[in-house]
Amino acid sequence: MTIGDDLDGVRRDVDEVVVLDYGGQYSQLIARRVRECGVFSELLPHHIGAAEVARRQPKGVILSGGPASVYADGAPPLERELLELGIPVLGICYGMQLLALALGGRVQGAEIGEFGRSQLSIGVSGRLLAHTPEQQTCWMSHRDTVFDAPPGFTALASSTASPVAAFESLERQIYGIQFHPEVVHTPYGQQVLQNFLIDICRCDGSWSISSVIEEQVRRIREQVGTDGRAICGLSGGVDSTVAALLVHQAIGERLTCVFVDGGLMRKNEGEQVVSAFRDHFHVPLIAVDAEDRFLGALAGVTDPERKRKVIGAEFIRVFEAEAAKLQDAKFLVQGTLYSDVIESGGGTGAATIKSHHNVGGLPDDLEFELVEPLRTLFKDEVRQVGAELGLPERFVWRQPFPGPGLAIRIVGSEVNRERLDVLREADAILQDEIRAAGMYRELWQSFCVLPEIRTVGVQGDERTYGNVIAIRAVTSDDAMTADWARLPYDLLERISNRMINEIRSVGRVVLDITSKPPGTIEWE
Ligand code: XMP
Repeated sequence: MTIGDDLDGVRRDVDEVVVLDYGGQYSQLIARRVRECGVFSELLPHHIGAAEVARRQPKGVILSGGPASVYADGAPPLERELLELGIPVLGICYGMQLLALALGGRVQGAEIGEFGRSQLSIGVSGRLLAHTPEQQTCWMSHRDTVFDAPPGFTALASSTASPVAAFESLERQIYGIQFHPEVVHTPYGQQVLQNFLIDICRCDGSWSISSVIEEQVRRIREQVGTDGRAICGLSGGVDSTVAALLVHQAIGERLTCVFVDGGLMRKNEGEQVVSAFRDHFHVPLIAVDAEDRFLGALAGVTDPERKRKVIGAEFIRVFEAEAAKLQDAKFLVQGTLYSDVIESGGGTGAATIKSHHNVGGLPDDLEFELVEPLRTLFKDEVRQVGAELGLPERFVWRQPFPGPGLAIRIVGSEVNRERLDVLREADAILQDEIRAAGMYRELWQSFCVLPEIRTVGVQGDERTYGNVIAIRAVTSDDAMTADWARLPYDLLERISNRMINEIRSVGRVVLDITSKPPGTIEWE
């Protein structure tokens, strides 16, 4: 499979700032906040090299925070050449300490660290801290501390535990802050970033979601050419939907979408995909009803990994058969996001595509060139693009849904139509009530699980022996960790009553109160 252009091959008409990642937990957030100031940003590994940074011609460089001590063995170093490029540099936390150490300031491990909310006192606001009050709160997370700014630098501010919490040298165009401007607990953080990006780096702040759309449309046209044809597998999720719409905007009817419905989607979702694409957006769409085929292949399968394999294999077979009918399609559209690119090597060209993010996980030997129009975007930006392209709100804010669908939520028994129907009905009630309570967007995921257990109950005068539905609702930023959501009791009561009253075979409803770790979000 040919991998599409990487970020570094992109010709951009907008200003860019490079964020070098020293391993801090907020590095991605820095890149996002920069974009919120209207400046395109890329998060790159700290070791990418000054020459590579220079080649990208950024207007500024930001060194992120990181967990190491600058004095630790193997601590990620600062490349001195970065400071000779004539590009303004801002060090944040560890990044600031690296600058201080390299330029002759005094950095020491302090007895006590400074973690959490702190009070910042500004002596001289300089350019970096301009338009912010003399006293302000900020968020700190460090043990090493800058005690003296490097010679020739102006110390701008201090905090309770940091004698030098910010410094700058206008002459050298080097700036440092000990606090984290990217987190919401630093109320003037965005102003400080704005000062750096707009006043100091002279970025024009013109990057916006509509400029993304224009640029991606132009790039797609360049890549696919004037008569190339593309194919896109739709999963019903926001990423493949937005990717397809962008490509459709660029090449119109030369894009054909393929939607394989294996009968494992939530209630009405298949119909929604078909009507949105076919009737609303007028995108050529091949919708394949493959329910019998998928359920046939799943008969008797209970092992979770086996289920995933069977579903993946069926998906590929159906998709390939459809693709073969479109012989002149040379391009395959995928909704790979920037976070996937970062995870697989920081946009440096190591474009490993995790099967997780492919629709069903396509094999390597498909003879397509990839078109990945979301490769530079974070998830929330993809949602904004979707909204701007006219995607209905229901799609834009759809919670993540796993490729194998409801099949991995039927636990301990085979996946068949009857069990899928029970789960689908229960899930529809859950989604309905959660939306009605206005909680849908604040949850990362909310869904039901149908385990192979029957429990005793009484309904009317009858003894019942019904199914158990488990409710799983979690909050999370990235699915790496998650907490179980504290759904209000009255909401849970409504959900439970409706499930038991409206679905004949359901006799009991339980709530999963496990966070991740130690649990996973899905049950299998
Ligand atoms: P876990 O259960 O590992 O899930 O905490 C993390 C996130 O990944 C989703 N997930 C999957 N997505 N194919 C997918 O496309 C899969 O096989 C799969 N398994 C889990 C899960 O819904 C959650 O968002």
